[in-house]
Amino acid sequence: MTQTSRILGVGKYLPSRAVPNTELEQIKSLETSDEWIQQRTGIQSRHYVTNESGTDMAFEASKEALKNANLSVDDIDFIIFATLSPDHYFPGNGCFLQDKLFGDRPVGALDVRNQCTGFLYSLAMADSLIKSGMYKHILVVGAEVHSRGLDFSKDGRAVTVLFGDGAGAAVVGPSTNEHLGILGHAMYSQGKHADALWLEYPCNAYDFFISHEDLDVGCQYPKMNGRTVFKHATRRMVEVSKEVLNKTGKTVDDIDVVLFHQANLRINQMTASMLKIPEEKMVNTIQWTGNTTAATIPICMCEALRQGKLKENDLVLLCGFGAGFTWAATLLHW
Ligand code: ACO
Repeated sequence: MTQTSRILGVGKYLPSRAVPNTELEQIKSLETSDEWIQQRTGIQSRHYVTNESGTDMAFEASKEALKNANLSVDDIDFIIFATLSPDHYFPGNGCFLQDKLFGDRPVGALDVRNQCTGFLYSLAMADSLIKSGMYKHILVVGAEVHSRGLDFSKDGRAVTVLFGDGAGAAVVGPSTNEHLGILGHAMYSQGKHADALWLEYPCNAYDFFISHEDLDVGCQYPKMNGRTVFKHATRRMVEVSKEVLNKTGKTVDDIDVVLFHQANLRINQMTASMLKIPEEKMVNTIQWTGNTTAATIPICMCEALRQGKLKENDLVLLCGFGAGFTWAATLLHW
């Protein structure tokens, strides 16, 4: 019989420096306001790193996830690391985390670059590697350092106010109860919308990796067409949520808890209303984390557990949309 896999423990790390909208308001070049940010996005605050790197945060989140899973680092067979903001261009963050967490013991590590759906794609990979019998316990991590690469001028304000730093981790392993665990996934990408949300430079696609002229006009910062992202996000999150429910023989009414990617509170409220999911089934963290991209869903899991909203056997819908475009959903019995 195929082994069902399950999330055995989760952990998170948020830097101690909280940056409320009122602090961004003080940055003259940004020309933004607490009122604008809250009204359009629901965000009140986010966290920024001080000395930490993405893999430092991942290390802390992983230790917490292992503790909550009642496992030790010796039990882990493989790392899947999702990030769009790696410590270095190469090697991937998985290698740096291997060094921090495992020291002299070599462990396989895979980096996943799927932005806001990075954690969901990684979870699907972990699920299938465990189901196939290839590995027993996999550490799935998402970590992002956005704050060091944002444009704090008026040109970048629509993007800059959305993002925060943080890490989340999950230990995925075999389920001892075949009724508890991951039921199914659905994943998509559509690259024709890549330039609606991207970091174009530095790059290997053109003659220059990055030129002084590119730097002078801020090409090294993320660019986004917010309205296009908003419109596609709601449509695709509804579609992919319905698909994963159909695939697993479940209905919207069966869902106990919804953990959506946290890009904008309005996107999540609209998606929930289109799916006819009552708002009280959703757990949102964006108000105090901003968008932490691949770290978001495990951070949401930690928060849902902290609030007592996530209990054994609950049917949980995970769903996200992000740059690529990519979108994905997973259904599981907690
Ligand atoms: N502060 C103040 N004013 C601002 C800000 C800001 N931070 N940002 C934009 N504005 C201004 C604009 O300049 C514009 O002014 P104008 O009318 O004088 O030209 C006005 O506000 C409206 O701008 P829009 O971009 O049309 O604002 P919109 O209502 O679409 O809200 C937002 C922008 C919040 C970004 C929204 O489009 C959105 O949430 N989109 C989805 C974002 C998202 O999900 N991103 C995914 C993320 S991440 C990932 O995948 C990696």
